[in-house]
Amino acid sequence: MCGIVAAIAQRDVAPILIAGLKALEYRGYDSAGLAVLDHGELRRLRAKGKVREVESLYRADPFPGGTGIAHTRWATHGVPSEGNAHPHAAGRAVVVHNGIIENHEALRAELQGEGRRFSSDTDSEVIAHLVDRALQQGASLRDAVCQAVDKLSGAYAIAVLDTDTPDTIIGARRGSPLVVGIGIGEHFLASDVQALIQVTRKVVYLEEGDLVEIARERLDIFDLEGTAQQRRVHTSELSADAVERGEFRHYMLKEIFEQPRAVADTLEGRLGTHGVLPNIFGAGGDALLSKVRGLHIVACGTSYHAGMVARYWVESLAGLPVSVEVASEYRYRDVVVPENTLFVAISQSGETADTLSALRETRARGYLGTLGICNVPESSLVREADLKLMTRAGPEIGVASTKAFTTQLTALALLALELGRQQGVAPERLAALAGELAHLPRAIEAALESSDEVLAMAEQLVHREHALYLGRGVQYAVALEGALKLKEISYIHAEAYPAGELKHGPLALVDEDMPVIAVAPSDALLEKLKANLQEVRARGGELHVIGSDAIGRDVDDLGGRLLRLHHDGGFIAPAVFTVPLQLLAYHVAVLRGTDVDQPRNLAKSVTVE
Ligand code: M6R
Repeated sequence: MCGIVAAIAQRDVAPILIAGLKALEYRGYDSAGLAVLDHGELRRLRAKGKVREVESLYRADPFPGGTGIAHTRWATHGVPSEGNAHPHAAGRAVVVHNGIIENHEALRAELQGEGRRFSSDTDSEVIAHLVDRALQQGASLRDAVCQAVDKLSGAYAIAVLDTDTPDTIIGARRGSPLVVGIGIGEHFLASDVQALIQVTRKVVYLEEGDLVEIARERLDIFDLEGTAQQRRVHTSELSADAVERGEFRHYMLKEIFEQPRAVADTLEGRLGTHGVLPNIFGAGGDALLSKVRGLHIVACGTSYHAGMVARYWVESLAGLPVSVEVASEYRYRDVVVPENTLFVAISQSGETADTLSALRETRARGYLGTLGICNVPESSLVREADLKLMTRAGPEIGVASTKAFTTQLTALALLALELGRQQGVAPERLAALAGELAHLPRAIEAALESSDEVLAMAEQLVHREHALYLGRGVQYAVALEGALKLKEISYIHAEAYPAGELKHGPLALVDEDMPVIAVAPSDALLEKLKANLQEVRARGGELHVIGSDAIGRDVDDLGGRLLRLHHDGGFIAPAVFTVPLQLLAYHVAVLRGTDVDQPRNLAKSVTVE
């Protein structure tokens, strides 16, 4: 959570820092700040709110300076305010921090005992004091940072300035990402390469425990014992266009409409007419998958919902037992791992703290191996999993996941097909399912045509404060994802239930003020679902059904509103029926005037526990 940018150059760095922060706002956007050194003079700007607040302050009174650090915040310790915004300064040290310092209270007490005065409620400020204390004791900036991080428990990525050493910036990472950008006679640091493509494509991904010292002409990486480390220089393929909003009103809408292309890219070179092509999971992948006798899938939020869909697919296709769990629970549970179980971590960002910790827990739990399904090639998750299958969604900027979800489903469908093949599913069935999957980009394109009709449905929901989503079987997972989309961007309270569970409690909520949104493709449970919808109508609930042609006239007869997708369901139905639910949440949020791309209290990448 939180985004860091730092730059050391011959030119003025404040505009670079501000542009970088804007590219990182998806990581947090409740306050922001920057600090720049110009010939030893420190200028610091901080403001509550988005990066544009700091930008206005800077534009009103621009200043020079070739060494600077900056931060966009997602509050953990201390409310969003100017005083809690980074950079934090103490004596000579100026620090930006991403992560959580778990022992900050003890450190603060120790430092206060020495007479140090704190000016914020953050955990991060202790780092500035620790660095300053070491500097005052005569340490070099690098040694001071080493001594400081040695005292920290928890997770961090930091960038540190010393007002007496204006030609150097130190960065360090443990538990939160940090990338170095290499320019011509200039160097940069950032939480994500996205913040750097405006200035360079040459990047070095720091590893856990790395400490980096950057100057204009110099870049040195060490471990915390001070031993020099070599890291590979990558050329980022991220294009500047990929993070532009273009003509779309919001990133979320752009990303919803990018789904046919993103899904097609995720399938490319991986799916043949008879099924999945060999070795798409990396070296040794097929051999490892042939030994799998069960799966544990772990993820958070939308990625967890993708895992729920995968459970239905893998169990029915490959006949293998699958458990799916949210990472924050999994990591603290005494998990029983049957022999030959594959651990599957799903994460768009590959930096979600809970999912990464769960992955790290697997080392002691005796799994056959680990598979990461991820959208960011250089992420921690991809580096640490044994096998990987990349989704190729491209950068997703809107906080609400859309194309990340449908590309995760695409990757998981490939996994289900491959496991099915390994478990002896008939070649004809595999070929038929491969054909359905190959058709997914086109089916999503067709579902997108419902946008205007969805808008009409949204107009009926816009003034509601609650909504119930229903689905049966695999569509229950789709209902959960639909409800999550609505609540996170429109702030309408939405819950999803398996429709058969309604009468065991939630039906008590249903009256004429409760809209009920049902996902109703043509599948084996459609008739059962229709019976549940009757129960809703009998209590006066307002029905909105997203169904296929097979639904017939039943919804009309019930007096509900039907949005008909000309798709029969089948294998790929979860991805297709997700699309109108994404659009519904989007249109409701726009009508309510919320901040669609950056909803309150949230951040795109949750790199703290
Ligand atoms: O990057 P991840 O997929 O690991 O993120 C997990 C969740 O934070 C994420 O899916 C979140 O629920 C969505 N952005 C909500 O739309």
